[in-house]
Amino acid sequence: MTLKYYAEELKKTAKALAQPGKGILAVDESTKTVGKRLSSIDVENTEDNRKAYRGMLFTSAGLGEFISGAILFEETLFQNHLDGEPMVKKLEGLGILPGIKVDTGLRPLPGANAVETLCSGLDGLVERAADYYAQGARFAKWRAVLQITDDGAPSELSIKENAWGLARYARSVQESGLVPIIEPEILMDGDHDIERTAAVQEKVIKEVYHACQINGVLLEGTLLKPSMTVPGAESSTKSDPQQVAEMTIRTMERSVPASVPGIVFLSGGLSEEAASIYLNLMNSIERKAKWNVSFSYGRALQHSCLKAWRGTDLAAGQKALLARAQANSEASKGNYVAGSQPSSDEALFVAGYTY
Ligand code: 13P
Repeated sequence: MTLKYYAEELKKTAKALAQPGKGILAVDESTKTVGKRLSSIDVENTEDNRKAYRGMLFTSAGLGEFISGAILFEETLFQNHLDGEPMVKKLEGLGILPGIKVDTGLRPLPGANAVETLCSGLDGLVERAADYYAQGARFAKWRAVLQITDDGAPSELSIKENAWGLARYARSVQESGLVPIIEPEILMDGDHDIERTAAVQEKVIKEVYHACQINGVLLEGTLLKPSMTVPGAESSTKSDPQQVAEMTIRTMERSVPASVPGIVFLSGGLSEEAASIYLNLMNSIERKAKWNVSFSYGRALQHSCLKAWRGTDLAAGQKALLARAQANSEASKGNYVAGSQPSSDEALFVAGYTY
């Protein structure tokens, strides 16, 4: 099959993912990363425990009211729930589209600044994506990471390489019917101010869409997953939520084409409450562009849920997940009242974070 064959379906899938009032649940942590999460609640990282945790998420009644898609790690896409039913069926039962992380991780980028990376996984991607589609996946994710440093990162080389990788990925999975979530994350590490983040992010996103143009990516069948425009975590000049919202929307308006149906932000180490408040403000201010502005959170949707579940308490885990999902759904419409849903305001930022 080809992109042309899937064009109408890609547009429909992207629209369904970006429907107003809904966002995406990112549960695509690698086996190693989910192990860190489980160890924080003293649960061993076994396949059965990963199944139990993710199975708890995917059987939360009513979750589909707030969540349009869930990004899975490959193991989960092909896994059965502890009750024997495929995880994919559990999601479909809630009206949630299954998605799949298709990149195979970050590698050092030769010739660039020491901290810079490229994102791997292009080899055989069209064929892999076809297998994922056959298994029920309807969208994909690829996370490229850029960092701002005092000694010149992101370099021209890293911006070009990561933009090109994202565009090649996007075109490749569209050939097999998957909507690409294009994720150029700018890490919060560093002491730079918000203006510098904005300048870098604008340049990076413009380069991504330039590369998409060259690769013939169907933009109506894509979503963008950026970080919010925030100052570096160690910056001496802090920004208030209103400034973050205004600067983020300004950056997006300067760089994201109107043909992209939705922008779904990552949480990137923000606390659960901050991630909801920033999103809510972005949806409360005047905007020129019409894309749907929503969320695709990992840590900011799972943190208090994990703590409530603690390996055994299904009802408490699901309640906490639904609370954050509802809060972010409200925020995606500009209706969230801060503190109206239980949340954690624990900062989830970890320097040098690897996903
Ligand atoms: P966070 O919201 O925890 O940043 O994760 C989102 C994600 O999918 C990163 O690739």
